[in-house]
Amino acid sequence: MSILFNEEHNTITINTKNTSYQMRVSSEGFLQHLYYGKRIGEENFRYLYHNYDRACAGNPDEVFPNRAISFDTMPQEFPGYGVGDYRIHAIAARNADGSYGADFRYAGHEVTKGKYKISNLPSSYDYSGDAETLTVTVNDKITGLTLELLYGVFEDEDVITRAVRVVNNGKGEIALDRAFSMSMDIPFGKWDLVHFHGKHALERQTEREPLTHLVKSVESRRGTSSHQENPFMIVCDRKADEDHGRCYGMMFVYSGSFKAEAEVDQINSTRVTMGIHDDQFEWHLMPGEVFETPEVIMAYSGEGLTELSHIYHKFIRRNICRGKYQFTRRPILLNSWEASYFDFTDETLLALADEAAKIGVEMLVLDDGWFGDRNSDNAGLGDWYVNENKIKCGLKSLVEQVNAKGLKFGIWMEPEMINEDSDLYRAHPDWAFAMPGRKPARSRNQLVLDLSRKEVVDYVYDSMAKILSENNIEYLKWDMNRSLSDVYSAALPAARQGETMHRFMLGLYDLMGRITENFPDVLVEGCSGGGARFDAGILCYSPQIWCSDDTDPIHRLNIQYGTSFGYPVSTVGSHVSASPNHQTGRSTPIHTRAVVAMSGTFGYELDPAKLSDEEKEEIRDQIRIFDKYYDLIQGGLYYRLSEIGEEPYEAWEFAAEDGSEALLNVVVTNIQPNQALINIRLKGLDPDAVYELTDESEKYFSRIPTMYTEEIHKHEKTLFRGDALMYAGYTFEMVFGDYPAMQLYFRRVK
Ligand code: DGJ
Repeated sequence: MSILFNEEHNTITINTKNTSYQMRVSSEGFLQHLYYGKRIGEENFRYLYHNYDRACAGNPDEVFPNRAISFDTMPQEFPGYGVGDYRIHAIAARNADGSYGADFRYAGHEVTKGKYKISNLPSSYDYSGDAETLTVTVNDKITGLTLELLYGVFEDEDVITRAVRVVNNGKGEIALDRAFSMSMDIPFGKWDLVHFHGKHALERQTEREPLTHLVKSVESRRGTSSHQENPFMIVCDRKADEDHGRCYGMMFVYSGSFKAEAEVDQINSTRVTMGIHDDQFEWHLMPGEVFETPEVIMAYSGEGLTELSHIYHKFIRRNICRGKYQFTRRPILLNSWEASYFDFTDETLLALADEAAKIGVEMLVLDDGWFGDRNSDNAGLGDWYVNENKIKCGLKSLVEQVNAKGLKFGIWMEPEMINEDSDLYRAHPDWAFAMPGRKPARSRNQLVLDLSRKEVVDYVYDSMAKILSENNIEYLKWDMNRSLSDVYSAALPAARQGETMHRFMLGLYDLMGRITENFPDVLVEGCSGGGARFDAGILCYSPQIWCSDDTDPIHRLNIQYGTSFGYPVSTVGSHVSASPNHQTGRSTPIHTRAVVAMSGTFGYELDPAKLSDEEKEEIRDQIRIFDKYYDLIQGGLYYRLSEIGEEPYEAWEFAAEDGSEALLNVVVTNIQPNQALINIRLKGLDPDAVYELTDESEKYFSRIPTMYTEEIHKHEKTLFRGDALMYAGYTFEMVFGDYPAMQLYFRRVK
């Protein structure tokens, strides 16, 4: 039993393998949060808190005339609104009488086997069949607003998920101005906030700052989870590092606008919240109606950031991703985008397929430009039928010819969008978001389809289903290239426009659900102008997401580093592209590009015809290496071995969970003369075992030439003890040239 109720103390304790989470019902019915942290035995944490009269704090009616009990200072499980708690809030309700009050008391709880379900929204699922659900019900006796606080308990995975079912059990309409998914008070300690900000082509940059008495928020108002902030954050001890310290993770299973807040209050207690952004959000609940929030995945590690990442990596692979390609090997693809952009014909594509087949690639992906009047990014979105001026033989024949060369075929679509210059727009101009009397803002010269309308979703589904069912398409890149603006649905009344943003998300998830359910063999790769929708919501439909439009491997180190805090490499779409790089103009060796792309789903995005014979030969070897270590890379434990930007190199490792093997990767990002030697201490090995080294990069980087040194140092030693590699480390030879990369494999032999 992972959920325990202690009748004597009125505590509810959730235990996972390594964590405990405790709340308590006070004699007045207040639901108080007592503890989340390392697993403890039977304990009542009430002793941690003392009530004092704090001036200017409101006292609930039940405790009158006791001035020591106040919502303003009490650690609460899900605070109410407008009744004396002045800290950041998780719910805001406007009642039928115009009052802004929501005041909750415990009404009961229930433990059920299995994981709760949220209708119409993606959420985690019970992969191993041993999850439990705790539902704690609190209600407002005056308005009838009821909250079912849902806790999904994944004991072995060390994860607790949270969501809220908001029910109007009253007699009047209630408008929710905010309906967050979680709130948590951490009454003691000094904490840092780690968040992942960015921009197009440079997503998920790691930033860490102290939490102070200011409210800090990590948020997106863009209708997508966004390039600018990722819906994942970590609150950790000020001194926490990869291997030490308490760390809390909060990850939102949602792909639209979101807000996560953190505040240290006047008595140094920290509160964190997370949910759908309340900008342009107003949900009307009529009596009897229910609003369900998306889910937050919460995890705790007492052993630093690496362990926290491992919890998320496993959980996302097992309990978020699903479908045919959850664990099966995914094909190595060649994507046409950076190979030819909009400039292709069926003949050039078939030539590309020939080249791809020769180097060992397994699938050709036809990116943007194959449909409607799409010769640039100014027209055609919405017209999902083939452009026969470019693909004269027709799509079906093209796919068949590519298949005949031994390659699978994948295709690109951007289903949520519409160009004004399209047949679809000419037929249905009101299907695009636009406010009455206003010309909507264009972005990439495109508008957003109003997916809050069922007929629009149906139409888009039918167009996609036609393409997918008439052709042997085995992969779909689902792109989305702008943020939402001018959000207004011609189909909703004025008073309901505050629902449009979220209804768009519900429409999108309905569409993704229908596509993945009816085409279960199609591998879907999420994408949004690169990585603007890299989130656990999308991962419920597609096991991989194009991580960034920046394919420069040196920037990718940065992007993939930030991404790795929450997301496993099996989700990270990553390709080897041309050099000089199309985004930065930087030149890098093809070996380095491959070492970086291998820490992801791996593929190519270039024209192989432009490569030298040596480079093509090297690609065949890259594919051999990726295949050889596929399971270790995709399923092994991921260790960050350098702090990004702190060293002239970046290093990371994949280690088998049982310590039997490890793959160490290093890229020198800032080559220096008269180098300090690079020494890396590995992690996750068996200290008593002996490992044999295979240097997979031996042929591919230059050592310092003899004119600078008396001898070329080359390791002759191939056997190392695990403890030596972990505590003394491995020292690399001096390297030379632009951005050399090393890839060393260690296999336990004794
Ligand atoms: C943005 C994506 O991230 C790119 O990979 C490419 O598919 C373009 N869109 C095509 O328009």
